[in-house]
Amino acid sequence: MLYAVELVNLSKAYGTFRAVENISLQIKDGEFFSILGPSGCGKTTTLRLIAGFESPTSGEIYLHGQAVSETPAFQRPINTVFQNYALFPHMTVAQNVAFGLEMQRLPRKEIDLRVREALAMVRMSERANSRPAQLSGGQQQRVALARALVNRPAVLLLDEPLGALDLKLRKAMQFELKQIQQEIGITFIYVTHDQEEALTMSDRIAVMGHGHVLQCATPEEIYERPQSRYVADFIGETNFLEGELVNANGVAEVMLEPSLSIAAAPSERALADGARVTVAIRPEKITLSATNGDPSALRGSVREAVYIGTDMRYVVQLGERTQVVARVQNLGASRDQRFRRGDTVYVTWVLENARVLVD
Ligand SMILES: Nc1ncnc2c1ncn2[C@@H]1O[C@H](COP(=O)(O)OP(=O)(O)OP(=O)(O)O)[C@@H](O)[C@H]1O
Ligand SMILES: [Mg+2]
Repeated sequence: MLYAVELVNLSKAYGTFRAVENISLQIKDGEFFSILGPSGCGKTTTLRLIAGFESPTSGEIYLHGQAVSETPAFQRPINTVFQNYALFPHMTVAQNVAFGLEMQRLPRKEIDLRVREALAMVRMSERANSRPAQLSGGQQQRVALARALVNRPAVLLLDEPLGALDLKLRKAMQFELKQIQQEIGITFIYVTHDQEEALTMSDRIAVMGHGHVLQCATPEEIYERPQSRYVADFIGETNFLEGELVNANGVAEVMLEPSLSIAAAPSERALADGARVTVAIRPEKITLSATNGDPSALRGSVREAVYIGTDMRYVVQLGERTQVVARVQNLGASRDQRFRRGDTVYVTWVLENARVLVD
């Protein structure tokens, strides 16, 4: 299969500092692919390598099967939308979008056609004659997108394109961008440090840390089955319970304290009894009950009960020094249905939601 973009053992060092280290990724045609990670992990560097603004220290980049190391940025079928999308303030929307094509000295008719097409794609046809100052932040962002789309790139790179927008507009634009991408079917490589944004928009996500790709999978896979503590910690909230593996074969039993053992799904890695492991459980996967109906339930005591609108967030004490956070959806308006500080609760989870991590 020919991938839209393929990175093979790609590295970029600045002096002795390794900004990107040995990354291999395969991005399919028409895919909405996100690169997610904290500040400084190498996201922008990776995009700049793909675009051709930087050359790799080692490794290769293929665009539709073609090695592009020797291809200058302007000859790659790629365009980039940056966070600071500075439009020319003295030009109209249409002139901003036409600018790049005019630099290429394309015929006027062709330019007009392509500008109309690009503005239609981002639903800004009606505002062709407005100036940037007359537009909202989201509309300006759409013009920036049209300015990239007008070149008809095979791949569009977007580096935190919604970073400058307020939360509400950001949410609306996430939806819009995803819709536009689906309509035009161009491959998007989308950089963000916002995990929720990556989860809601992407077909697949590569989670980066310290220049490495730590996991590359669908949003569901990344959230439900993080392969490392780093990934589990970066995406959403997680309880990490450290202990000793007592029964490595079959259902994993992990001893957290001398008098407190918990059950977890069997580890995918072969582990021996006695191994130090971490069990990761999402707060919303923990069930609390006032009565002891399940023999495997752990008895606990509510330490904190915080009302957060959609959910209640409880901190539950188990054993001597183990605490877990549980999130329970607020189904009824009645206070009686919630637990209070000091209540005894019985804690259970579905086995597969408690995952044994090694690092
Ligand atoms: N030209 C350069 N010279 C030296 N170091 C650089 C250069 N460009 C980037 N770096 C370093 O490489 C690392 C990765 O930078 P990069 O811009 O890729 O991070 P990022 O993941 O995009 O972060 P952010 O979310 O803050 O934008 C950083 O530590 C940065 O300081
Ligand atoms: Mg960056």
